[in-house]
Amino acid sequence: MINQPHPAEISNAVAAWGNWYHQIEVAPGVVTPGTHDSQAMLERIGLPANLADRRTLDLGTRDGFFAFECERRGASVIAVDYLPAERTGFSIAADLLHSKVQYHCANVYNLTPQAFGEFDLVLMLGLLYHLPDPLGALAVVRTLCRGKLILETHVADAELGTERPLMAFCQGDSLNGDWTNYWAPNTLAVEAMLREVGFTIESTRVDADRAIIHAAPIFGTVQAYYHRVARGAANPRW
Ligand SMILES: C[S@@+](CC[C@H](N)C(=O)[O-])C[C@H]1O[C@@H](n2cnc3c(N)ncnc32)[C@H](O)[C@@H]1O
Repeated sequence: MINQPHPAEISNAVAAWGNWYHQIEVAPGVVTPGTHDSQAMLERIGLPANLADRRTLDLGTRDGFFAFECERRGASVIAVDYLPAERTGFSIAADLLHSKVQYHCANVYNLTPQAFGEFDLVLMLGLLYHLPDPLGALAVVRTLCRGKLILETHVADAELGTERPLMAFCQGDSLNGDWTNYWAPNTLAVEAMLREVGFTIESTRVDADRAIIHAAPIFGTVQAYYHRVARGAANPRW
């Protein structure tokens, strides 16, 4: 049996971190004061209700809201972020939730199926536009995904149109005042990049400047050939 901390201890633990991003219910009625409307996004992304025994990878997990939700739905979860867990709210939330989610401080480009295995579900939420090399990162994700990818991202359909796959480079902090934002793709470009690395698109939902894409890996020989070529020659990281 798990000893529940006193409500004041829970509040103190939550208050000890001053930079919450996610709004996580860490105890009945106690929600971390994040700036992100995590529950609203959860309702939009179409996360399967039952994830029993599904190996799940949450890329760019930050405070871990989506990793903990997958665990709650039965998944065994690995959460990855290039920030150390103590530089986010993850450790505090994981302690309060008695979570078994494994946190790895790693850059998405350095993940391999040899080190982490393959996953039935990969979440890539709010991450794509933070990546200097989005196509390279998606190729890495493809090597890790054996089931389903749920990708959520900023899209610039209003600026770039919906006719051709395009991405705008966001110099400095020009996208939302954030120096870690690099690219603003349109939805067509995100879909095209996913196909390029060997996914098929199952569904796409666009709400204003955000898109949610469900994709599944294709196991064709043509893709396998091109991935081998790309991994071996064009880009050694792949
Ligand atoms: C906007 S937050 C998204 C958090 C969460 N996935 C969500 O959608 O609510 C982006 C997260 O990705 C992480 N991140 C950015 N680039 C990364 C990279 N190359 N490898 C791993 N994590 C990265 C950041 O540290 C941050 O925690």
